[in-house]
Amino acid sequence: TDPVQVVVAIDGPSGSGKSTVSKEIARRLDLGYLDTGAMYRAVAWWALDQGVDLSNPAAVVDAARNAPVEISTDPDRQTVRVGETDVTEAIRTPEVTSHVSSVATVPAAREVLVDRQRQVIEDSGRRIVAEGRDITTVVAPDAEVRILLVASEQARMNRRGAQLGGSQNADALRQQVVGRDAKDSTVVNFSTAADGVTTLDNSELNLEQSVQAVMDLVLRAVPEL
Ligand code: DC
Repeated sequence: TDPVQVVVAIDGPSGSGKSTVSKEIARRLDLGYLDTGAMYRAVAWWALDQGVDLSNPAAVVDAARNAPVEISTDPDRQTVRVGETDVTEAIRTPEVTSHVSSVATVPAAREVLVDRQRQVIEDSGRRIVAEGRDITTVVAPDAEVRILLVASEQARMNRRGAQLGGSQNADALRQQVVGRDAKDSTVVNFSTAADGVTTLDNSELNLEQSVQAVMDLVLRAVPEL
């Protein structure tokens, strides 16, 4: 018999822990993992590398079309390449982080990436955890499981700060977490759950508790797993 199809769509703001939780869910259920934010970041990296004018929406759309982005869906081996270049680390720098909204806020650039994301989901045999800002609403509204993962601003800043090794001052951190979400939410709504999407607030949960809470929702939606 065919393996059961299960697309788990997880959206949320930065610092909500969605990447870590999504990866762990994928491992435990032997599913693929798609970090859609990494695709936006890879396009931004390429645009910066090529000297593309990020303030010009038409140039940004071309960049989204032309950047040769390849992303792995193995939760244990997350690599992102642009052509021959491994950009797995480079797409996490403050430089890329501060420019990525210039890609994410261009609707036609989003369309290009959304098409690719849908293709990745199909190529997985519809066995994948996909996370981002518009997965539950735009990329995979038909997903078996749709979750909006949220956390208080303080919890999100603490996590992002810890991720960056505690080297950032509070204002820079707030700009990276809250400022970027504010920009991004001008084009995508990821602060309120759409119909049929379950909101999970993990402000008071540690990683294992967050994973368990998501796992419960997945097993409830797809008991044959
Ligand atoms: O999750 P992240 O911080 O790696 O996301 C990088 C950027 O891409 C962020 O500014 C939001 C944007 N993004 C988006 O607009 N839609 C997605 N599905 C994923 C990310």
